[in-house]
Amino acid sequence: MPRLIFLPNEERCKDGAVIEAPVGANLIEVAVENGIDIEHACEMSCACTTCHVIIRKNFSSLEPSTETEDDLLDKAWGLEPDSRLSCQVLVGNDDLVIEIPRYTINQVSENH
Ligand code: FES
Repeated sequence: MPRLIFLPNEERCKDGAVIEAPVGANLIEVAVENGIDIEHACEMSCACTTCHVIIRKNFSSLEPSTETEDDLLDKAWGLEPDSRLSCQVLVGNDDLVIEIPRYTINQVSENH
């Protein structure tokens, strides 16, 4: 099974984590089931950006994002070329290295 390697994130996953996930599994569901509390303000329906992650390894192994996802990603805090909305990512055949950005758009608007 492919491994999902989460890089350490102070708030969501302090020491990082390595999780095995079946091909086709939904990335955020696997994360949440394993105690990595990625925000999902729209309940994983591709209508917010709080589940934003950056795929640091094997981004190109994933199915491409939809136009709806891309439009939303434009609003995400800390957007990078390898950004995805984790509720829209299905695990492929390859291991992934995943970074959870420091902030979500919700936190940015609350704090600034
Ligand atoms: S949880 Fe809202 S877009 Fe993913």
